[in-house]
Amino acid sequence: MAKITVRDIAQMKAKGEKIPMVTAYDYTAARLADEAGIPLLLVGDSLGMVVLGYDSTIQVTMEDVLHHLKAVVRGAKNAMVVADLPFMSYQISIEQALTNSARLIQEGGAHSVKLEGGERVAATVERIVQCGIPVMGHIGLTPQSINALGGYRVQGRGRRDAARLLQDAQALQEAGAYAVVLELVPTQLAGLISQRLSIPTIGIGAGPECDGQVQVLHDMLGLYTEFVPKHAKQYAKLGETMREALARYAHEVGEGTFPTEKESSTMDESILEELAVLP
Ligand code: KIV
Repeated sequence: MAKITVRDIAQMKAKGEKIPMVTAYDYTAARLADEAGIPLLLVGDSLGMVVLGYDSTIQVTMEDVLHHLKAVVRGAKNAMVVADLPFMSYQISIEQALTNSARLIQEGGAHSVKLEGGERVAATVERIVQCGIPVMGHIGLTPQSINALGGYRVQGRGRRDAARLLQDAQALQEAGAYAVVLELVPTQLAGLISQRLSIPTIGIGAGPECDGQVQVLHDMLGLYTEFVPKHAKQYAKLGETMREALARYAHEVGEGTFPTEKESSTMDESILEELAVLP
């Protein structure tokens, strides 16, 4: 299988093929997702919560994203890697957005960047795209604005908000974004936006009518259980499996049944005898 590109993603929508995407933050997870045939990997700033233990994505820095991105790029053979531009790494000026997008591509090895916002970031998106960097938009619930939004809740339920989201999606498409994430948007509105746009929509908590879906790896594998969002489906309970395995390990070390001969190595007894007589 060849490396996935933005052209492949566009063709998937054209052919009516749904696009799966998942977050990844390290080499091992990237390899596993890649081997599972997932075409799009997102080094999301959700890493602040599920990997670094922050209470939001706001504390995440460019250095955090770059560190995890490099590991994911090493593990992704075929998947296209999208990197989040973290909070305040693109809002100050278009120059700042370009500099940081370039870092994610050049230093980090990402194939595309993602940023939050609609019409208000359209000029920024346009300029990044003009420089040859594919941009994925992100509207609806935008976690970097959580303090302004006042909580993680569905966006676009009312007439005015719904119209604004449609306008935001169109502005991103016009600015040259190749896809747009719709987070926590009512199913019907996400369906309408998906029909109106020629670029794919990637939903998270936005219902089945989006062109693709994205999930946070730790939510879908049952690794992060402090808060399980309604939109997350647990495909495994790896948290429980890990806890049980770690408790068994601790118990076996405690009672002396680990390690056994199988996990140990031996040496020539005569050398040991020589050592034993040394002062
Ligand atoms: O950071 C992230 O994981 C994201 C997804 C929720 C789309 O932006």
